[in-house]
Amino acid sequence: MVNPQRKSIITGNWKMYKTIEEGLKFIQGLIPLVQSDELPLVYLAVPYTMLESASKITKNTKVTIGAQNMNDASEGAFTGEIAARMLKEAGAQFVILGHSERRTYFHEDNAFINKKVKRATQENLPCVLCIGESEEEREAGLSFEVIQKQLLECFNGLTQKDILKCMVAYEPKWAIGTGKTATAEIAQEMHHHCRQFVGENWGEDIANKMIIQYGGSVKPENAKALMEQPDIDGLLVGGASLSLDFFSQIVNYNTSTV
Ligand code: PGA
Repeated sequence: MVNPQRKSIITGNWKMYKTIEEGLKFIQGLIPLVQSDELPLVYLAVPYTMLESASKITKNTKVTIGAQNMNDASEGAFTGEIAARMLKEAGAQFVILGHSERRTYFHEDNAFINKKVKRATQENLPCVLCIGESEEEREAGLSFEVIQKQLLECFNGLTQKDILKCMVAYEPKWAIGTGKTATAEIAQEMHHHCRQFVGENWGEDIANKMIIQYGGSVKPENAKALMEQPDIDGLLVGGASLSLDFFSQIVNYNTSTV
């Protein structure tokens, strides 16, 4: 819901999909569909290969280009890795950190993600920190505890100023790519709890300014109900962001007819 303290942002996460040619064609089609000032800002986390060209064609538009991951070191002998400075040089204006696919397939834990968050903020590269519980954790009644631990450990040692360079994406693992979306009520409950916890630990001002996006099987059909919740400031969209039709409907959720 539009809150004067917080921007409304809808982020597409393209994961390992789209060549440069496919991506640029998509973005050219997207720009006119999301340009109105009434709409949320649009962030797109694209593959590294198209960061530079995508950033160039989105200058002075509502679309902001970012990356999906980075290494925590400033540089070094880490074959195949990429540094924050390199992302920035290629035009990235934000980076997603701690995505559940990184946690699951690449064994990233909160301590490692914390180092990445520190590096990103040190380099003034805003990040989207992903948190969220698994199905077993939810069933065991541990959802709040899990996200509290993730927030505490991933923001550990950051100054309040640095925390404000971060957004949070609440993405329950059981909802990512599964077609099972959290209901708007569950998502709101988790977002509210997350904001309260941020307030208790880092102050009310940060809590009020913190942009918290919801992610996990967002579709044109559920975007509006989610966005109407008072603590949901935006959406992090995976699968549906690969379709121009679906993604532009999600950004235009207020007038979409689905
Ligand atoms: P999904 O992915 O929308 O396909 O569930 C969300 C995400 O991975 O960020």
